[in-house]
Amino acid sequence: MLSPEGRVIMVSGANRGIGKAIAEKLAADGYKLSLGARHPETIVPVSGVNDVLTHQWDATSTTDSAEWVDTTLQHFGRIDGVVLNAGVIYPAGLEDGSEEDIDKMWAVNFKGPLRLVRAALPELKNSGHGRVVNIVSLSGVRVMGAGNMGYCASKHASIALTHSIRQDGWSSGLRATSICPGLVETDMVSNVQTPEGEYKITPQAVAATAAYTLSLPAEAVVAEIRINSRLESLF
Ligand SMILES: NC(=O)c1ccc[n+]([C@@H]2O[C@H](COP(=O)([O-])OP(=O)(O)OC[C@H]3O[C@@H](n4cnc5c(N)ncnc54)[C@H](OP(=O)(O)O)[C@@H]3O)[C@@H](O)[C@H]2O)c1
Repeated sequence: MLSPEGRVIMVSGANRGIGKAIAEKLAADGYKLSLGARHPETIVPVSGVNDVLTHQWDATSTTDSAEWVDTTLQHFGRIDGVVLNAGVIYPAGLEDGSEEDIDKMWAVNFKGPLRLVRAALPELKNSGHGRVVNIVSLSGVRVMGAGNMGYCASKHASIALTHSIRQDGWSSGLRATSICPGLVETDMVSNVQTPEGEYKITPQAVAATAAYTLSLPAEAVVAEIRINSRLESLF
């Protein structure tokens, strides 16, 4: 297993929800962290003895990715992993929802992460054991009904991003994993009630899965981890 010692990990959307839980878990494990958020002042300080950098990153910006990567490199001198976490959901189904909302999900859930990976790719390859953990969704691997089509489409594209990173980076030791949770207990789905006997996943369980993924050696990589809290026919 890979040790956290000396490894520098970037986490997007680290100020709340799943991203915050991941930052807390990786700090506790001993990683050096570069935490990005639209408003970096909202990132809650993480405990531990680690070196932590905070930086602005808006997924819709065409310049933030390069600036965040450059600042991270100047501060730490290396980048060993990126956790693509920031994301948005808007209602947009086959028959309803605006094209503007579909464009916003495409911009934040696919194009922003793509820009960030492109900016970090040379350093991830230099690392020799670079890792990308992509927080996708079960909506990236299946479509339940037609009412969530826009989000599902952006998350299916996100799965393609993970596979492209694996293909591109394989010979450099770069590995990428999609983590695909069902409903997670965060602001994003606070309006969704679960029926009796069904649950939401805790952000800490997703964070533990992300940390486990980062610890896997190059010869034991998993392309995708699906996490559910209820019974579905396939997962
Ligand atoms: N919650 C679920 O049920 C669930 C299930 C499966 C997958 N996911 C995925 O998990 C990831 C994290 O979601 P969450 O549940 O933690 O949601 P959340 O609590 O709503 O947090 C979303 C995060 O994304 C950031 N963000 C939104 N728009 C952004 C932008 N334009 N640029 C940069 N950051 C932006 C938010 O920053 P601000 O604070 O600035 O808005 C926040 O940090 C997302 O990719 C989501 O699709 C969530």
